[in-house]
Amino acid sequence: MCGIFGCVLHDGREAAPLIHAALKRLEYRGYDSVGEVTISNGTLTVKKDSGRLDEVHAKYNLDDLLGPVGVGHTRWATHGRPVKENSHPLVDCKSRIAVVHNGIIENYLDLKRELETKGHRFASRTDTEVVPHMVEEYLSHGLSLEEAFRKTINRLEGAYSIVLTSLEKPKTILCARQESPLVLGLGDGEYYCASDIAAFLPLTRKALILEEGEMAILDPDGIRILKAKNGVAVKRDAITVTWDPESAKKQGYRHFMLKEIHEQVHTIRDAMRTHEIYYDLLASKLMQSEKVFIVACGTSYHAGLVGGQALMKLAGMNVRVVVASEFSDEALDLVDSKTAILAVSQSGETMDTLNAVRDAKAKGASIVSVTNVLGSTLMRLSDVYIGQNSGPEIGVAATKTFTSQVTVLLRLAIAIGRKKGEVSSKEISELEEALHRTPALIQNLLNTRVEDVKKIAESCSGASSICFLGRGVSVPTSLEGRLKLLELSYIPAIAYPAGESKHGFIALIEEGFPTVFVAPRDETHKKIIGNIMEMKARGARIISIIEEGDEEVRNLSDDVIEIPESLPSLATPVVYVVPLQLLAYYMSVILGHDPDYPRNLAKSVTVE
Ligand code: M6R
Repeated sequence: MCGIFGCVLHDGREAAPLIHAALKRLEYRGYDSVGEVTISNGTLTVKKDSGRLDEVHAKYNLDDLLGPVGVGHTRWATHGRPVKENSHPLVDCKSRIAVVHNGIIENYLDLKRELETKGHRFASRTDTEVVPHMVEEYLSHGLSLEEAFRKTINRLEGAYSIVLTSLEKPKTILCARQESPLVLGLGDGEYYCASDIAAFLPLTRKALILEEGEMAILDPDGIRILKAKNGVAVKRDAITVTWDPESAKKQGYRHFMLKEIHEQVHTIRDAMRTHEIYYDLLASKLMQSEKVFIVACGTSYHAGLVGGQALMKLAGMNVRVVVASEFSDEALDLVDSKTAILAVSQSGETMDTLNAVRDAKAKGASIVSVTNVLGSTLMRLSDVYIGQNSGPEIGVAATKTFTSQVTVLLRLAIAIGRKKGEVSSKEISELEEALHRTPALIQNLLNTRVEDVKKIAESCSGASSICFLGRGVSVPTSLEGRLKLLELSYIPAIAYPAGESKHGFIALIEEGFPTVFVAPRDETHKKIIGNIMEMKARGARIISIIEEGDEEVRNLSDDVIEIPESLPSLATPVVYVVPLQLLAYYMSVILGHDPDYPRNLAKSVTVE
């Protein structure tokens, strides 16, 4: 999730200071490197480097770039580490075309190979760099800049918002979008494009929304929108934005957490985009090892528990999942050079996770990781890593990063399962297909079930405690529901494997005790019905997350939240956790707390 801003200003005005200010407003979208390009007197000048905006500006003075047309970018690395050469803008061989990009170009390796055989030289390890080179290639065939850009866009697979500026037409900006966001701003004879409205809000409140598969041409005459596929012109009316700058950053949502819950529809897709080669690399490290430990903390630990079950079930691997802070005391004696540590950390900076990794590395273990922050300490300690591509998460409570971690770990288990042939290829394909369906399912859930969750939150807001129960892969889902609820509402919450609850927890049950069952219709269904009956018989108030049409559990429950479709068991955490995230969010709001910044917590815990 990077931030993009481009502008075409009146002659005599300087774009650079405007770009700088807009990037400041976009910094929340990514902040590992920054770059700007402007065109003046037949020269295209780029300034860029790794680091946050203020650091890069202090080093290079971004404001003294000249010219009324320019583009800027603040990056959240997905392909290629956050170093200067991978920062945007990326240019073609002759530095005549500069491109910034937000998203992931899935087929970039094929395109890169094709362009290399035609003599193009690549300077970065990004997916983005294929774009300026391909436009350069089409220009050399005699196409106009607009046609070369359109033809290039039609070759790309994946998600992108792309903005291009070029010496071919120095007063023009070309841009296009597919899945990643891009909005256009209409000033007084000046025109803007940006990742979100917040970027140009102080300049104009008139905006044009660029739809999927469209491109736009910005020049001193105005903005033209075309269908990228066939170049047909599109007529679009401007809207007037009423948001204040803060809600513009939250895209109209009341809190970042709610925005991030909604973003899961996109972030899960982005987590699915990582190329097979990375999974193959990680898979071979794990398969070469005799022992595998998954280490993580908090939400990442819960994702690790799902990953551990998937690796056992799909790949027959004997994996132990250990809370990172316990790892060195509990399991370090077992670590040797035939051990692999799979560390899961959104930030890549959690001290407990890093300590476990360092201790294991010192004993010769291989380190592989799943992290959201390329360039993080964890990534640097790892032999192989996979980026989960969730973009920055501002809310302290992890939401979108959990579902992405689970998605990546399931894809890893699928990759190893395929290689080992432990389970039928039908079962594996069904899981893979279900993962592709999860974003649409979550969208459906967010469109239709939020009011049900709000009502439950209202009715539970006076509770002195709440319990979450599940079986099998729904145990980690229940643990995650519990963690979300307690960290945001400050209500002491409990989570148990449902079968274990009768060995002690059941003593707490009295009339009306809210008990949330995560009850998908999978192989645990019959048993969980038994557990629901045990609790109901003692007066618990039963709230169940069920598959739509599950009359058996519905009839036993006081309230249900229905998941619109059936899913293979291992895919259920990705979707069933969403109502639990919403429940925690609404409980926090109802109780007057700030769900984005819960007390005593930090986004990244860098102390032991
Ligand atoms: O950055 P990490 O994934 O390593 O962070 C681990 C935990 O600190 C984190 O998941 C924490 O539990 C969140 N507040 C949960 O919402």
